[in-house]
Amino acid sequence: MERKDLLNLVKDMTITEKAMQMTQLNSGMICHTQLTNLTGPFREWSFTDEQVEHAGSILATRGAEEIMRIQKEYLEKSKHKIPLVFMDDVIHGYRTIYPIPLAQGCSFDADLIEQAASETAKEASAAGIHVTFSPMADLVRDPRWGRVMESPGEDPYLAGVAAAAMVRGYQGEDVSAKDKVGACIKHFAAYGQPEGGREYNTVDMSRGVLRDFYLPAYKAAVDAGVELVMASFNTVERVPATCSQYLLRQILREEWGFKGMVISDFAAMDEIMNHCVAADAYEAGEKCLKAGMDMEMMSGVYIASLEKLLEEGAITMDEIDECVLRILELKNRLGLFENPYKGADPELEKELFCCDAHRETARKLAAESMVLLKNEGVLPLQEGKTIGLAGPLASSGRILGAWSCDGRIEDSITIERGLRNVLGDKLVTAATTEFFGEAIDIPDDTEAALEAFKDCEICVVAVGEKEWETGEAASKTVLTLPPNQEKLIHTLKANGKKVVTLLFTGRPMDITPILGDSDAVLQAWFPGTEGGNAIADILFGRVNPCGRLTMSFPRNVGQIPVYYNCYNTGRPNVSDDKYSSRYLDCPNAPLYPFGYGLSYTQFAYSDMKLEANGGTHPRGMQAHELDAGTLKVSVKVKNAGAVSGAVVAQLYIRDVSGSVVRPLKELKGYQKLTLQPQEEQIVEFEITKEMLSFYNNDEKFVFEPGLFEIMLGNHAEDVITESVWIR
Ligand code: BGC
Repeated sequence: MERKDLLNLVKDMTITEKAMQMTQLNSGMICHTQLTNLTGPFREWSFTDEQVEHAGSILATRGAEEIMRIQKEYLEKSKHKIPLVFMDDVIHGYRTIYPIPLAQGCSFDADLIEQAASETAKEASAAGIHVTFSPMADLVRDPRWGRVMESPGEDPYLAGVAAAAMVRGYQGEDVSAKDKVGACIKHFAAYGQPEGGREYNTVDMSRGVLRDFYLPAYKAAVDAGVELVMASFNTVERVPATCSQYLLRQILREEWGFKGMVISDFAAMDEIMNHCVAADAYEAGEKCLKAGMDMEMMSGVYIASLEKLLEEGAITMDEIDECVLRILELKNRLGLFENPYKGADPELEKELFCCDAHRETARKLAAESMVLLKNEGVLPLQEGKTIGLAGPLASSGRILGAWSCDGRIEDSITIERGLRNVLGDKLVTAATTEFFGEAIDIPDDTEAALEAFKDCEICVVAVGEKEWETGEAASKTVLTLPPNQEKLIHTLKANGKKVVTLLFTGRPMDITPILGDSDAVLQAWFPGTEGGNAIADILFGRVNPCGRLTMSFPRNVGQIPVYYNCYNTGRPNVSDDKYSSRYLDCPNAPLYPFGYGLSYTQFAYSDMKLEANGGTHPRGMQAHELDAGTLKVSVKVKNAGAVSGAVVAQLYIRDVSGSVVRPLKELKGYQKLTLQPQEEQIVEFEITKEMLSFYNNDEKFVFEPGLFEIMLGNHAEDVITESVWIR
């Protein structure tokens, strides 16, 4: 449809039609069936039947037949024939479930992440969905917060790479194509830093920190052409993001040039009254509209307020039309005016769901995203030996993870099944009782396990969290495993077994108590539909582990937040000086740092070279003139082991003379390469001005000449460093 036709449509709409076009409801509401999935203050809103018939969008309805039916009935009644846009949380797969996003980040494999998103788009679109509320690009540093599982981790650059890859995968070149869906970057902004890790809590930080760390990943998605932005629940600078002109107008629209649609989070427009920045729905409606909030999710502020606000002259019709037009433009770009059913296809749905090709990608991505944290010579396992398998996640299909959309546990390959495919009768299981109900821990079955495993030298123990203990509204203050899970590990070890611990968690946990009694630890996250096969691939060495952590592991909860790209202090803890920035009872360094991960081979870095073009600086260090060309750095990486494997060569930079303090290290690039045994390769990076720039205290993105440290290596705490004066 032409823009002028859309404008005409907007002109023809009544104020009620406009307010409802700006409202997203769920299908229970629209179809007058039972309301489902209601949280927050939604229950209190009552829409009239007539109003409901004009709603602009539907949340969380699934299935081609159902969606086609609703769309058809809606359009038959609709005066303007503006189709509904169906949106849903398709976070890490639709029916085929891929590993959780935090795990996907650990793969450092943008192509594979994009591939998974593109397959997800195929399934979701066939099931009638037009827009997914993904990717989530909230930078995270606090594993007490349950939603860290939805984020690619603690690094702005990597989070941006992952977010952009997902946007490309979902939307492709042409978002109107039948197998594509619109993407929605969320939660804008800084939702990942709630105080104390408590869900929905206050976020407060300097603008410099916001811009340097928290905004880049959303921006990467905007630059990749993301169709929608979801505002976050939290406040930023004491203003709820939902009505923040600073975030939604100044940064998003004016600075970044975002032309797409903005949607609130679930009932968040209503909730700004709880934040006490609006006394009633009128004030709430006015504030959100002024900030350019186009669509309200699951509350009735716009329908309750816009007409009166117009009469009072508090808002203008132009301000309303601006939002309505952006909604119609989205529908138009999705191709819904031409084909309101888009990709919905009940037959195709059946063909695509959990098809071989999607399972293959899910298996590969799951294996690449698992991080081997410890291995005292016990892995890989040998195929002919009798192996014991225990733990609450051992025989359970509940390894998909939270937000697993239409994923079915009966489709998922359990760990038992994955290992049995390889071991057959040589796999002995015991103490595999799943978690039941609300109980956080499992029954104590250690005696039974010892008895069953009497002929097993090695025991694999699958422990971790329940799916519902991660994701939204799943903040925790204790991050150790529950007592009976820990006991299982301790008892097996105390009885002479070699213990391979598999961790199924949506966050870095406090694993200090079980580390000593685990001969190997594999962080498996929630690996998705093909989890069991991917675990078998890793445990038997069919895939050499190559996942690298994107979130630091704390030694204990008291150390949180612990992250690699922090600032220095005036008294860094370089010695045991009591009056340095340190704890009396715990080191500063995390248990496992960002970028860390073992393989069944070792990688050695040497011969770092810096091609500086500026001779020697008067103070003795090498110098480089950026205007005369980018700075080239390289390092030799060698596979020093006996099996081939993939390595993630990481480039970090530190600015040691900024006008404001700069992080100890910032990841600025990485390359993932596969090396054969004893093979060496030179890995090269080019450092540009942009990579050295940051936001100063005037909120300007600047390059400041001065001394920089350039670091290349295996992970944030294992690098070779060269200093250079850059102008
Ligand atoms: C979550 C969003 C999600 C929305 C719709 C909210 O509670 O914060 O991430 O997209 O619900 O389901």
